[in-house]
Amino acid sequence: MVNLNGNDKARYVSGMFDKIAEHYDLMNTVMSGGMHHFWRKRATKLGLGSMNGAVLDVATGTGDFALEFVNNPLVERVIGLDFANNMIPIAKKKASSQGVSSKSDWVLGDALNLPFSDNHFICVTVGFGMRNFADKHKALEQMLRVLKPGGKVVILDIVPISSSGLIGKLMKLYFRGLVPIMGAILAQNKEAYTYLPESVEGYLAPKDLAQLMEHVGFDGITYGTMFMKTIAFHVGEKE
Ligand SMILES: C[S@@+](CC[C@H](N)C(=O)[O-])C[C@H]1O[C@@H](n2cnc3c(N)ncnc32)[C@H](O)[C@@H]1O
Repeated sequence: MVNLNGNDKARYVSGMFDKIAEHYDLMNTVMSGGMHHFWRKRATKLGLGSMNGAVLDVATGTGDFALEFVNNPLVERVIGLDFANNMIPIAKKKASSQGVSSKSDWVLGDALNLPFSDNHFICVTVGFGMRNFADKHKALEQMLRVLKPGGKVVILDIVPISSSGLIGKLMKLYFRGLVPIMGAILAQNKEAYTYLPESVEGYLAPKDLAQLMEHVGFDGITYGTMFMKTIAFHVGEKE
C-alpha cells in the first residue's frame, strides 16, 4: 500500500485510522512501552518561544500532542485537526475528561488544505502523521502558511532504522514481526500494523526531511533523534 499516491493514499489512510481509532491509544502505549507520552512532552518544549497565541496540531488523532500544550500559560487555545472521522470524538472526549474543552477545538479536515487563515498560529505540530501524508511538500507549505512569523513547526515521527548493527536488526524484527501480531490481537487489525513498519521504511531520513523543510521555506531548522535513533524531531521557524 505504501505505493499508493494522492487521493488513493488519503482514502486508504483515513479509512485505516477510522478502523483502528478505538484501539489507537492502547496500541501506542503497548508498542512504545508508554514512552510515546514522553516523546511528545519533549517535543512540546521545543515548539514554544515567548509568543502567546493558538497552537495547531495537524493529524491530531486522539489529541495527545495537542493536549500536551493546553495547560501552558503561553497557549490561548489548541486546535487539533484530523481527517479520520472516528478519531475526532475520542480527542474531544479526552479534552472533556481533562476539563479543557473550553480551551480546545477539534476539526475534521485535511492537512493538505488547512482551513485556517495565514499567519495565525504560534506553533504547528504534527506527531506521527507526516509519514502518512500523500504530499509532504504541500503539507509543509500549508503549515508554514498558517504559522505566524516567528512561530515554530515541530514534527515528530518514527524514522527508517539507520543502524545495520544488532540494535537495528532487533528493531526491524520488532516492527516487522511483532507489531503486526500485536495489532492483530489488540486492535483486531493486522493490516494497519503491517502498514506502520512499511510507512516507516518508506519515510524520509531525518536529514532529508530537514532539507525538504528548508526547500519549503522554513528557517533555523534543527533536528535530532531519540530512542535508539528510531524517533526524530524536527523544528523549523517562519521568518
Ligand atoms: C499515527 S496517527 C498520529 C496521531 C497523533 N498525532 C499522535 O501523536 O498519536 C496519524 C494520524 O494522521 C491522520 N492523517 C493522515 N493524513 C492526514 C491528512 N492528510 N489530513 C489530516 N489527518 C491526516 C490520520 O487520520 C491519523 O489520525
